[in-house]
Amino acid sequence: MSGLSLVNVCKTYKNGQNAVKDFNLEIKDREFLILVGPSGCGKSTTLRMIAGLEEISSGELWIDGCLMNMTSPQSRDLSMVFQSYALYPHFTVYQNMAFGLKVHKVPREEIDRRVREAAEILHISHLLDRKPYALSGGQKQRVAIGSVIVRQPKAYLMDEPLSNLDAKLRTQMRVELSKLHKELGATIIYVTHDQVEAMTLGTRIVVMNQGEIQQAASPADIYQNPVNKFVAGFIGSPSMNFIPVWVERKEERICLEFNNQRLFVNHICASKLLEGGYLGKRVCLGIRPEDFHEAGKKEQTLILQVDIKEVLGSEILLHGLIGRAEVCARLMPGIKTEAGESLPVSVDMDRIKLFDMDTDRNILYI
Ligand SMILES: Nc1ncnc2c1ncn2[C@@H]1O[C@H](COP(=O)(O)OP(=O)(O)O)[C@@H](O)[C@H]1O
Ligand SMILES: [Mg+2]
Repeated sequence: MSGLSLVNVCKTYKNGQNAVKDFNLEIKDREFLILVGPSGCGKSTTLRMIAGLEEISSGELWIDGCLMNMTSPQSRDLSMVFQSYALYPHFTVYQNMAFGLKVHKVPREEIDRRVREAAEILHISHLLDRKPYALSGGQKQRVAIGSVIVRQPKAYLMDEPLSNLDAKLRTQMRVELSKLHKELGATIIYVTHDQVEAMTLGTRIVVMNQGEIQQAASPADIYQNPVNKFVAGFIGSPSMNFIPVWVERKEERICLEFNNQRLFVNHICASKLLEGGYLGKRVCLGIRPEDFHEAGKKEQTLILQVDIKEVLGSEILLHGLIGRAEVCARLMPGIKTEAGESLPVSVDMDRIKLFDMDTDRNILYI
C-alpha cells in the first residue's frame, strides 16, 4: 500500500450526533497507527468510515491515490478485526482461517499455504484441527487475527481487539502484535482507549477528543511534548499532576507560586512566560509523577503531605497534597516516609509543562 489519507472527513449520524469533525490525516505505508481517546470520542466511527461500514458525511477518503468514498467495503481491500471476535463454532481453526479465502475463490493450495504461514506466525499451528470450544480466550483471539492475516489486505483495521482479554493475556498479545507488525511489514490502523496499548504498539499515535484530532505524533513526542492539557492528562499513568499557579517575578527571576510554595523556572520557561504576557497571571503547572524526587540539600523544595503510600515493588507511589493541590509522586523504593508524614520533594524543572488557563494550550509546546 502506498498510503491512505483522510481529508476534511466529517461524520454526522442521522440523530444529529456530530461524531467526527474535520478529520485530516495521512497514513503511510507500514505505519502502526493508533487512534486513542476516551470512550465516545469517535475512534470506531473513524475506523468504520475507512472500512466502508459507515458512510462518510463529508470529506474524502483516498487509498493508493484513488477516491474511495463510494467504494464498497469488499472492494477496499482492507481487513477488520473487531472487539468481539466471532468464530464459526462448527468449523475447525483451519476452516475458520480459510473461510474468507474460500469465499473469494482463492485456489486450494494457495489457501493452504497462507493458513499455515499465518498459523506459524501466530504460534497456533498445533491448534489447526481444534474447534473453537477447545480454545482459550487468547487462542481464539489469535485465530480471529489469523483469519484476517491470511487475506493479505492493503491495511489491517483493528477496533479494540484485546479489550476482552484479561490483563496478562493482553500484555502477551501486545508483544505478539508488535512482532506481527514487523514480520508482516503491514499497515495497521488500531483503535484503543487504553493509553498503555497506544504507547507500546504505535509508531504514531493520534489522540482524539470529542470527534477531533488533538495531536498526531510519535509516542515519545506525545508524552514529552503534548500540544495541550487534554493530551498531557490522557497519556501517562498515573496521570500528569495539574496545579494552578501564579507567575511572579522574585529576586530578579521568574517563579511559580501557589499556597506559600514557590518554584523558580528555567530560562526557557521564563522567556516563554514573559513572551506570552503571563507575568502576574495564573497558569496551570503540569508535573508528571516521575518528575518528583526526594529533595537534595541544594534544591528548591515543595512539601508533600502524604495521604496514601502505595508500595509497588519497583517503585513507590505517594498520593497527597502540595499546598491545596492533590498530587501523585512516583519515587524510588526505599523512601521511609509513611502516610500522615510530610516529605520535601524537588521537581525536575526541565520537564515541567505549563498550560494556558483559558485555552489549555501547552505554553512550552515546540
Ligand atoms: N449509529 C450511531 N448512531 C448515532 N450515534 C452514534 C452511532 N454510533 C456512534 N454514535 C455516537 O457517536 C459518538 C462516537 O462514537 P464512537 O465512534 O463509537 O466512539 P468511540 O469508538 O471513540 O468510543 C458517540 O457519541 C456515540 O454515541
Ligand atoms: Mg469504539
